[in-house]
Amino acid sequence: MQLAGKTALITGAARGIGLAFAKAYTAEGARVAIADIDLARAQEAASGIQGAVAVRMDVSDQASIEAAVGEAAEGLGQIDILINNAAIFTAAPISEITRADYQRVFDINVGGTLFTMQAVAAHMIERGIKGRIINMASQAGRRGEALVSVYCASKAAVISLTQSAGLNLIAHGINVNAIAPGVVDGEHWDGVDAFFAKYEGKAPGQKKKEVGEAVPFGRMGTAEDLTGMAVFLASDAANYIVAQTYNVDGGNWMS
Ligand SMILES: NC(=O)c1ccc[n+]([C@@H]2O[C@H](COP(=O)([O-])OP(=O)(O)OC[C@H]3O[C@@H](n4cnc5c(N)ncnc54)[C@H](O)[C@@H]3O)[C@@H](O)[C@H]2O)c1
Repeated sequence: MQLAGKTALITGAARGIGLAFAKAYTAEGARVAIADIDLARAQEAASGIQGAVAVRMDVSDQASIEAAVGEAAEGLGQIDILINNAAIFTAAPISEITRADYQRVFDINVGGTLFTMQAVAAHMIERGIKGRIINMASQAGRRGEALVSVYCASKAAVISLTQSAGLNLIAHGINVNAIAPGVVDGEHWDGVDAFFAKYEGKAPGQKKKEVGEAVPFGRMGTAEDLTGMAVFLASDAANYIVAQTYNVDGGNWMS
C-alpha cells in the first residue's frame, strides 16, 4: 500500500495507460479522479474501480481545467498527485501538416500539461501539500521521426516543461517528473497504425507488428508495464527525484 491515504487526479484516464494508472493507484490505497473529455467512458471506468470518481475535463480549455480541478479536489478532499496523461497523436509529412492540426496537438499535449500543472500546483501550494506531478512524455520526445514531427515536438516540449516546472515547484516541495513510454499496445496505437498504413502503404496491423519486433525486450509494451514507475514516482521512495524523465520502453532508447 505505497499510496495509502493519497488522492490523485489522472487526466485522459477513461482508457489505455491512464486507466491502468487509476487501477494501480487504487490497488495501492489511493483514491483517484478519472478525468477525461469522454465523460461517459470515464464514468463507466470509475464505476468498476473502488475509490474512483469520474470528472469531465478538456485539458485544452482553461475553464474546463479549473472546473475539473475544483471538482476533483471537492470529490477527493484534496489532490496529492497529478498525472498529466491526456494527449492526442497525429502524423503527416512536413508538406501536409496543417496549422489546425498543429494547434490542436499543442493545445492538448503541451498547453494541457502546462496549465493543468499550473492549476494543480496552485491548489497544492495554497494547502501546503507536498505533492507529486507526473507528466506523460514519450520516446517520440527524445528524437524526431520523419512523419511524426508535430507529436514528437509536443512530447519534447513535455520533457522540457517537466525540467522547468520541476526546478520551479520543488521550492514548494512539489516533485515534478515524467515517464517516456516506448510503444504501448492499445487504442492509441491502433490510431498510429492507421496513420502509417496511410503514409507508408502498409497493411493494417503491419506497423504495429514491426515496431513490436524491433523492441529489444521483444514485444510492444502494455499499459500495465508502466504502472510500476507511476506508483514509484508518486511514492515516498521518490522524494529526492526532481525534474527527470524516465524511459519505460523495453530498451528502445537510452538517455
Ligand atoms: N500508447 C503509446 O504507445 C504511447 C507511447 C508513448 C507515450 N504515450 C503517452 O501516454 C499517454 C496515454 O496514452 P494512451 O496510449 O493511453 O492514449 P489513448 O489515446 O488510449 O488515451 C488518451 C485519453 O485521453 C483522452 N483525451 C484526449 N483529448 C483529451 C482532452 N482534450 N482532454 C482530456 N482528455 C482527453 C481520450 O479521451 C483518452 O481517454 C499519452 O500522453 C500518450 O501520448 C503513449
